[in-house]
Amino acid sequence: MIYLKTPEEIEKMRKACDLTSRVLGEIASHVKEGVTTNHIEMIAREFINDNGGKASCLGYGGFPAAVCYEVNETVVHGFPSNYALREGDVIGTDVVVELDGFHGDMCYTFAIGEPAPEVMALLRTTKEALYKGIEACKEGNRIGDISNAIQTYCESRGYSVVREMCGHGIGKSMHEDPEVPNYGRRRTGALIREGMCLAIEPMINLGARNVVIEIDGWTCRTRDRKPSAHYEHTVAIVDGETEVLTTFDYVKDVLKERYI
Ligand code: CO
Repeated sequence: MIYLKTPEEIEKMRKACDLTSRVLGEIASHVKEGVTTNHIEMIAREFINDNGGKASCLGYGGFPAAVCYEVNETVVHGFPSNYALREGDVIGTDVVVELDGFHGDMCYTFAIGEPAPEVMALLRTTKEALYKGIEACKEGNRIGDISNAIQTYCESRGYSVVREMCGHGIGKSMHEDPEVPNYGRRRTGALIREGMCLAIEPMINLGARNVVIEIDGWTCRTRDRKPSAHYEHTVAIVDGETEVLTTFDYVKDVLKERYI
């Protein structure tokens, strides 16, 4: 069942998404060579609590952290650990925050120092694919139009699309209908309508699309251990227009010329 939001509810979504965006900005200022993901987790939890939010992932189905850590071959749902980031790593941090009963969801993949050019190209393409998906997310289009835009953009450039995980509706729950796959056919799936709130999140691999889940039951990595990238925004259909509720502006302010 797809819950369409009222203007008042969308105003709450805006506030939750702004806090989520600021959390990602705070993370950006700590993501550096030598820093552990445990340290980033501590910073993120403090920032969320200090700002009156709740970390939606913490305890969700038993997930042990506020943020998902996606180092190199990790696609999604990695745990924080004592792993210290190294020169040339890439790390996605996926954050969901609840504020006043509504959730914001976003992800940014950071480069530590100078990853290989082919890895940087993967990051750029995945981020561009997110915006291709957002462009296709228009009132009157269908979910399959978003899916197809992302798939076509990435596969035509030689990358592969993870199929086991997808974007989703979002609102009073972190995951609502409809599912928003990153592959599919145009003009299929649910109609995009006024009041819809969606998390659009391409997860794109440098090698094959296949993934495996580690023994911890959560950490999802590429089967061939080649890198994966992940960017995500929460959007809403408001007055016939698509509003991107989350923003990378806070990340951009921190990264400056390192922002891609
Ligand atoms: Co999401």
